[in-house]
Amino acid sequence: MIQGTSAQPYLEYGRLIHAWRNEIKHTFAMVSGGTGIAEVRLKALEKGKAKPEWRELELLAKYFYVSVRDLLPFENDLKRGIKILRHKDACFFDQERAGRKQYSYWNRAMSQALPNFKPVELLLHLNRREDVILNRGHFFHQYTQVLHGGPVAYLWEWEGKVHEEIFTEGDSWLIPGFVPHAFYSPEPKNLGRILAITFGQNIGGDARQELALLRPENAARIIQDEKDYYPKGMDI
Ligand SMILES: [Fe+2]
Repeated sequence: MIQGTSAQPYLEYGRLIHAWRNEIKHTFAMVSGGTGIAEVRLKALEKGKAKPEWRELELLAKYFYVSVRDLLPFENDLKRGIKILRHKDACFFDQERAGRKQYSYWNRAMSQALPNFKPVELLLHLNRREDVILNRGHFFHQYTQVLHGGPVAYLWEWEGKVHEEIFTEGDSWLIPGFVPHAFYSPEPKNLGRILAITFGQNIGGDARQELALLRPENAARIIQDEKDYYPKGMDI
């Protein structure tokens, strides 16, 4: 991640604007003419001295033929390279379905740097299968492991039929996205606790092919490239 300085607090925005302007080799005057943003303002934005307003990002994105998203810096909330979440600080909440408390949730360590990884811990309150309401499934795949207690009953729907499997401490299982599912604790005196990690994968399929096309030696330039289009002293 590129850190801003006190003189250039919005350098991460500026570098992205610079990178896209460099990509089409347009001068500040040209970008100003095309977007209506004053040249002096464009220079301040590129130098990271001012934070772009949303309207300016929209104008620049349109001008560069990119998405506004391409002009937003990567958000990194890691400290010393890791993200820590103490149990006492975890977001805790109950989920009710049909008037009954079905699950209690603790959100576990998540990071803006890894948006496709969402771990939650669940305490399973219901004890009878007939009280359990299956969800409709979700986009992310899911890894589940029994942390404590149990048995844990797992219900899932596959090809129109609801299946049930009983798991105990240490057991784990995986489902892909959009499989409807639910959990309950068959033994009221031994409520189950599970860790459920939903996750997505962006660096697969098309993204991998495109990275291969750009070649590994150029991959670093996707993240950061401060140099001009031509080497210095070769202005053409
Ligand atoms: Fe789930």
